[in-house]
Amino acid sequence: MKRWEKTVRPDMLFCGAPHILIPHAPLRHGEPMQDVVIAGTYFELLCASRGLGAVMMTFPLGALKQMPEINALLNIPDNHYIGMIIGFGYPEIKYARGVQKEMEQSRIHRLNFQEG
Ligand SMILES: Cc1cc2nc3c(=O)[nH]c(=O)nc-3n(C[C@H](O)[C@H](O)[C@H](O)COP(=O)(O)O)c2cc1C
Repeated sequence: MKRWEKTVRPDMLFCGAPHILIPHAPLRHGEPMQDVVIAGTYFELLCASRGLGAVMMTFPLGALKQMPEINALLNIPDNHYIGMIIGFGYPEIKYARGVQKEMEQSRIHRLNFQEG
């Protein structure tokens, strides 16, 4: 990661984001993994609808694991699952999201009741 900081971007951990959101959910209650992915995805949509940039990040999770005291500082209980950290803020650059009009056909799977 230190090497990437020289070639990719200076802040590999948080992508230069000024704010972070950490969705977390209790383990062994319902479906914590799916719950945090859904929460994170909806938050990314919310940011986009308000003109904010958002980036999903899992690289910082490794660092967070090494520092349980930070989890405590953030009031994240020990028995909670954290799937991602989302950086967000006003974007420095305007990033046009293009609709992907072309797709490799092999990636599209259609139901075909005629076969066989
Ligand atoms: C679950 C998940 C975790 C990710 N973790 C990181 C990360 O830790 N660091 C990073 O630079 N990009 C990470 N990415 C990639 C970025 O979130 C983003 O998808 C990628 O930079 C492409 O950006 P774009 O979709 O806005 O073009 C992750 C993506 C996902 C879906």
